[in-house]
Amino acid sequence: MPSSGKICLFYLYYFNELLKLILAFTPKNTVWGHNSALVGSKIYYTGGVIPNETIWKSVIHFENTPNQLCTQSKEFYYLDLSSPFKINEAITSWVDLSSSSIIPPHSWSAFSLCGSDNSTLVMFGGDFGVTNPVNLVFIYDTKTLQWSNPITSGQPLNVATRGVCDFKTGKMYMFAGSIYVLDTKALTWGVFGGSIPYRFDYTLTLLPNGNIVLIGGVDASGTANMFTLPLYNVNNNTWYSMNATGYLPTPRGHHSSVLSEGGRIIVYGGYTNRGTLIPVSDDLVVLDTDGPIFIWSKANVSTLSPPSRCYHSATLVDHYMIVAFGRNDFYLPSSTMNEIYILDISDKFDYKWVIEFKPVNNNTTDHNPFNTTTESSYKFFTY
Ligand SMILES: *[C@@H]1O[C@H](CO)[C@@H](O)[C@H](O)[C@H]1NC(C)=O
Ligand SMILES: *[C@@H]1O[C@H](CO)[C@@H](O)[C@H](O)[C@H]1NC(C)=O
Ligand SMILES: *[C@@H]1O[C@H](CO)[C@@H](O)[C@H](O)[C@H]1NC(C)=O
Ligand SMILES: *[C@@H]1O[C@H](CO)[C@@H](O)[C@H](O)[C@H]1NC(C)=O
Ligand SMILES: *[C@@H]1O[C@H](CO)[C@@H](O)[C@H](O)[C@H]1NC(C)=O
Ligand SMILES: *[C@@H]1O[C@H](CO)[C@@H](O)[C@H](O)[C@H]1NC(C)=O
Ligand SMILES: *[C@@H]1O[C@H](CO)[C@@H](O)[C@H](O)[C@H]1NC(C)=O
Ligand SMILES: *[C@@H]1O[C@H](CO)[C@@H](O)[C@H](O)[C@H]1NC(C)=O
Repeated sequence: MPSSGKICLFYLYYFNELLKLILAFTPKNTVWGHNSALVGSKIYYTGGVIPNETIWKSVIHFENTPNQLCTQSKEFYYLDLSSPFKINEAITSWVDLSSSSIIPPHSWSAFSLCGSDNSTLVMFGGDFGVTNPVNLVFIYDTKTLQWSNPITSGQPLNVATRGVCDFKTGKMYMFAGSIYVLDTKALTWGVFGGSIPYRFDYTLTLLPNGNIVLIGGVDASGTANMFTLPLYNVNNNTWYSMNATGYLPTPRGHHSSVLSEGGRIIVYGGYTNRGTLIPVSDDLVVLDTDGPIFIWSKANVSTLSPPSRCYHSATLVDHYMIVAFGRNDFYLPSSTMNEIYILDISDKFDYKWVIEFKPVNNNTTDHNPFNTTTESSYKFFTY
């Protein structure tokens, strides 16, 4: 029977494909307030809150629903970027590491690649539910695959912050009214006061000249304006500020910021008001930090965009900004929905949301996933 071998192979192939799908790890798609960090060709994700689906799906007006009835996530996993993947198919590039994690369930933590060897992930603080761990710093060595929970000297009180790493010194900077600096090698803390009032839900971006730009967030008087930007210089540990020009973006919290080529900080998403959680409509704005005066503009996007969101993460990988999860105003995604969105920023005058991630060595073909075809738009609006 000459063809039975072929048939056998055929079944074996599909069996394999099926097995891959069954064994593939899929992170909780409804995770909010998780955090991400790129190490080599892997984006690591940790924590977040998971809304109770039963309750959320019964909500008729999804918008403005407060964030109660969420459980903290203990998930820790990475997205493998060494092979291409498409967001309109089941993503099989996830690798689960949750069982190795020693961090209690947590959300809204600072999480960054930091340390001298470019292979160490550092997490500080956040919301751990009722009981805080004694040592608030957790360190993951991506080479030995080991977590540790070291004692650090001068540890501040727990607080929800965002962190940014100075790779030159291995120091991680966080902001909570004062600047907290963790020396990730010596495991010691420094605290630097200043005149900037306490904020949360902001982002920090370190520029090559040592200035950390504090963007957005909420202080006692509401969402901070995007016109006057506080800057903290890591070389002389002082604050100063700059008034930006150009388009004035809607004030926002829980957006994301990534630094792209040419000093362009891409700010994506966010809510306009911490109480209502309505997402901003100008969800993709760019701060050009290259000149003496910073200039805001609205990004040029030639494709349709996914629904605006907050509580997501964004990670820059080559010329792609990879957005994961978060909260939109329309629906709660199911666990099979692969809520990953990819913005191709290779042409700064024409950003595109695309369906395919291709490692940089591969040929990149631009697709427009959001242009008219029902197949691509159902993803966003049917929930
Ligand atoms: C979600 O809420 C429902 C209804 O209140 C409850 O029965 C269920 O146990 C909750 N699920 C989780 C995971 O907390
Ligand atoms: C390029 O893409 C092919 C499939 O399209 C994949 O098998 C290969 O691993 C990719 N190459 C690199 C360097 O990632
Ligand atoms: C670590 O990464 C930074 C940023 O990508 C780079 O500038 C630096 O040279 C790297 N250091 C080492 C030791 O690889
Ligand atoms: C700190 O450095 C920044 C950037 O170079 C500069 O603008 C600022 O004046 C400096 N502040 C002090 C107190 O030296
Ligand atoms: C920014 O603008 C405000 C209001 O116009 C002004 O009071 C402030 O002095 C300006 N700050 C700088 C650093 O130019
Ligand atoms: C959008 O394109 C126009 C010209 O086509 C350009 O002047 C503007 O700077 C672009 N915006 C951004 C954010 O790059
Ligand atoms: C959609 O595709 C058509 C034809 O290919 C093109 O003319 C149009 O500009 C596209 N629209 C968007 C938003 O990309
Ligand atoms: C991409 O593919 C085209 C056509 O196959 C080929 O000519 C070109 O060299 C490839 N580019 C890269 C960077 O691999």
